[in-house]
Amino acid sequence: MTQLPAARPTAGSSGSDHPKALYGGTGTRRITVRDLGAAKERGEKWPMLTAYDAMTASVFDEAGIPVLLVGDSMGNVHLGYDSTVPVTLDHMAMLSAAVVRGTRRALIVADLTFGSYQEGPVQALRSATRLIKEAGVGAVKLEGGERSLAQTETLVEAGVPVMAHLGLTPQSFNTLGYRVQGRGDEAADRLIRDAKAAQNAGAFALVLELVPAEVAAEITRSLQIPVIGIGAGPDTDAQVLVWTDMAGMTEGKVPRFTKQYANLRQTLGDAARAFAGDVVGAAFPAEEHTFH
Ligand code: KIV
Repeated sequence: MTQLPAARPTAGSSGSDHPKALYGGTGTRRITVRDLGAAKERGEKWPMLTAYDAMTASVFDEAGIPVLLVGDSMGNVHLGYDSTVPVTLDHMAMLSAAVVRGTRRALIVADLTFGSYQEGPVQALRSATRLIKEAGVGAVKLEGGERSLAQTETLVEAGVPVMAHLGLTPQSFNTLGYRVQGRGDEAADRLIRDAKAAQNAGAFALVLELVPAEVAAEITRSLQIPVIGIGAGPDTDAQVLVWTDMAGMTEGKVPRFTKQYANLRQTLGDAARAFAGDVVGAAFPAEEHTFH
């Protein structure tokens, strides 16, 4: 990359006029967790995408996406596993470093992987320190509210920005399954308690995955920190999608809460078939691709 990418919304998009807007603003320095807090105060909504490699991350950075998550969804998307559970801290450190190298402006958040923080605050701090020092990420994300409070408090005290993740927490799919969380008064109350606990422990933002829109709206209203929804309805402060779902790269059916903005799988397959046809038919390389 030779150019410092600025947030450049395309024609017809809803970029903000505010110079410091997370999306559509004119700032070029790296986004910080304080910028996300200021956006909540302004009432600005913003987009977040996952990224797992330098090249894709650079495309999203140039498009002005202010926050990129190196999610442990890399297990399913990038590494060919059935879940996020097998993803290791080594995987996370390597791919997070690539995403950091590929970007100039976006805040990069890395997931603490399954088994890298559940033992307690000391293990969590060791894992987060590695992602911050080795990969250069600006924040980490961990799953759980009350059950992860000690970890969140320790990380925040040590100067590590923490994004919490509640609702459907994929690392617990063996106990939760993949279904909507927080349905019914008791479950909703528990979720709201967890969200407030995460904020009180010092989390700078909260991801809410697969929860009823009404519950997500209430949590968003009652927290001071930004709430980022995925399958959580329209009223959260921000929205995150797994990039391969968003761009139509994922094979087969995508979750109902996803919207596909392109059909990259078709486009890439067509390009590969066109290349193969040219090679088989001796149309590539042509004279202009050939050295003498
Ligand atoms: O790993 C991931 O991609 C995530 C998002 C779904 C929020 O945690």
